[in-house]
Amino acid sequence: MARNKIALVGAGNIGGTLAHLAGLKELGDVVLFDVVEGMPQGKALDIAESSPVDSFDSRLTGANDYSALAGADVVIVTAGIARKPGMSRDDLLAINAKIVGQVADGIKTHCPDAFVIVITNPLDVMVGLMQKFSGLKPEKVVGMAGVLDSARFRYFIAEALNVSVEDVTAFVLGGHGDTMVPLARYSTVAGIPLTDLVEMGWLTQEKLDQIIQRTRDGGAEIVSLLKTGSAFYAPAASAIQMAEAYLKDKKRVLPCAAKLSGQYGVDGLYVGVPVVIGEGGVERIVEIELNEEEKAAFLHSVDAVKKLNEALSV
Ligand code: APR
Repeated sequence: MARNKIALVGAGNIGGTLAHLAGLKELGDVVLFDVVEGMPQGKALDIAESSPVDSFDSRLTGANDYSALAGADVVIVTAGIARKPGMSRDDLLAINAKIVGQVADGIKTHCPDAFVIVITNPLDVMVGLMQKFSGLKPEKVVGMAGVLDSARFRYFIAEALNVSVEDVTAFVLGGHGDTMVPLARYSTVAGIPLTDLVEMGWLTQEKLDQIIQRTRDGGAEIVSLLKTGSAFYAPAASAIQMAEAYLKDKKRVLPCAAKLSGQYGVDGLYVGVPVVIGEGGVERIVEIELNEEEKAAFLHSVDAVKKLNEALSV
């Protein structure tokens, strides 16, 4: 059986890390695409030269022509510009919208059957544009945000309670921005909801509130430390988990930006919700019961995504 093919559009910080992880996990052969000449070829060769040391078989190549995407099973899109200190994800809107339009054309022409994972920010708007311009079915186009946001939430909780990250699950809904909604009631340590842990005295409400805010600001915290770009290790790891769920038909339940068609009272908009990812792409959107406060926070986040979409069409 032929190996899977993973195309990475954008070979910058996230793209390079994606290529390395896809190789290490032997997810398939990898094509790194970028508009900069030589750079994707150089990164691909460098990673390929690590494969004898780390014992993985993956053919890694670099390309500057969209024809290299032909036959890709998965495409992960990071093409665009990243944030600098003082910039919000929304500041990237117009520039990245144009780039995502070009990438969508390339995908439509060369690999219309691929499962497409968008990482380019502002995420919820960019993934919507990708689906619209590529014409792919909504279940085959998904945005990476929730896995990253909930990983940040999980890490902060594990650190605060001095327990393993493996035993912490977290649930984050809404857009990938300041309005995202980390849900304490559905986030647990070994199955115990965080709200119960507050009652048990393991965690103060004040500390939990701080962690929720730090999760919302997680991307900005990294930008202000790095100064020359934005986070890339955790975003890459998150997208690889989604790609693996699709390629191995794992039916993982992961928070992703998916196109809603009436769920949560939202129609025709990409926003972060829990979904099941398997061989069919987004096989199911999980709709949970929200209390009044959670519903209000979710709708506030949906409004922020809507406003950004409107800003683009003006
Ligand atoms: N086609 C393909 N690649 C492009 C295009 C294009 N039209 N325009 C720009 N690129 C490439 C750049 O040359 C660069 O190599 O996209 C790459 C982006 O890489 P980085 O600047 O290192 O950014 P990165 O940290 O990887 O983040 C990429 O993901 O999380 C988001 O906000 C982040 O939107 C940003 C994206």
